[in-house]
Amino acid sequence: MVDIDVVCWHCYTDRGDDYRKKGTTLGTYAIAVLAGDGIGPEVTAQGVRVLEAVAERFGHYFKMTEALVGVAAIEAEGDAISHATMRLCQESDAILFGAVGGRSGGAPRMGRDKAGPSYEGPHSRVQPERALFRLRKELALYANLRPIRPFDALLNASTIKADILRGTDLLVVRELTGGIYYGKPSEIRETAQGLEAIDTLVYTEAEIARIVRTAFELARDRRKKVASVDKANVLSSSRLWRRTADLVAADYPDVTLEHLLVDACAMHLIRRPASFDVIVTENMFGDILTDEASMLAGSMGMLPSASLGTRHTAHGLFGLYEPIHGSAPDIAGQEKANPIAAILTVALMLRYSFNLKEEARAIEGAVERIVEAGYRTEDLREEGKKVVGTKEMGRLIVEAVVG
Ligand code: IPM
Ligand code: MG
Repeated sequence: MVDIDVVCWHCYTDRGDDYRKKGTTLGTYAIAVLAGDGIGPEVTAQGVRVLEAVAERFGHYFKMTEALVGVAAIEAEGDAISHATMRLCQESDAILFGAVGGRSGGAPRMGRDKAGPSYEGPHSRVQPERALFRLRKELALYANLRPIRPFDALLNASTIKADILRGTDLLVVRELTGGIYYGKPSEIRETAQGLEAIDTLVYTEAEIARIVRTAFELARDRRKKVASVDKANVLSSSRLWRRTADLVAADYPDVTLEHLLVDACAMHLIRRPASFDVIVTENMFGDILTDEASMLAGSMGMLPSASLGTRHTAHGLFGLYEPIHGSAPDIAGQEKANPIAAILTVALMLRYSFNLKEEARAIEGAVERIVEAGYRTEDLREEGKKVVGTKEMGRLIVEAVVG
């Protein structure tokens, strides 16, 4: 098998020792803030407030530089992400990302679908999503970590029965720079019989090995179980995936490996979610399964993600941090968006890119306390709970962080 560069994940988990020497001068943490489209700016603003609260409580300095991305960048700069913004990201220690996609001029209103040109769908010339694809690929952020641990206070908010959910604590490791998202050709073309479309699903052994290895490394600091998800009964890429996962597993005798077909995994995720520890899978399966898995936590508005590669900065691993929920243009600007995913995303940034574990836990604890106190955003509306807007939820969490 091909030799690959693997990160020592142990340093970055809460169970691992801090790899920095005591007394090291750390200097400034440089963060590129790309809030993007739809609800991106309003939820990112709350993440930034919480980061400022952490700076105040723990005495750090976070240097944040904002730039345009997505629809806003297409309209102002002619592309979903400009060269200057790509450079800013490369020179930063981490990227805080909101969401991209949708329509210019904000949300279309009921009965008035004239909020500006749409950038959605097959006829759009420049896709706002291209910004994300470039960032992921050009910055080699191949490992997308999506942790899912429903809060006890939200067990009844999920569409799944509380008894099934209890004890769920899983981590999806999604391959992010390969597969059908990037394979060429990918086009709609004319043939003598009419139009046809093609997408290409391609994976190299090395790409599979490095993401599976990442999953095994992370499992070592958790419950030591990996479920590798594929469609090996149909796809050649999945047969290589399965074979490679078995080869990697031989280096981790302390971790158990289970193979699951993606359709069966979709079922088991809502049948026995608590039995999973680490799930590793290819790009598109990971995209689909994590939307499904987000419902275990009550709402997509609760789920953060970290996209990482192997590049280290002076502080930790370089990474891009984004909530999984997307731009949701239908609710943008109405104080309905849940900022918790964006806020938990900041916690992941502190843990992986800055090695500030206590600070990360302070945010996660603050979020949990506010949810336990009965505060909810619109997406988690529940009888007897206090529904608050996006900004108010941010303010409550800031207050809980400052203590
Ligand atoms: C995600 C999103 C993106 C993806 C979209 C916005 C292109 O759904 O990060 O899960 O499919 O990767
Ligand atoms: Mg998705």
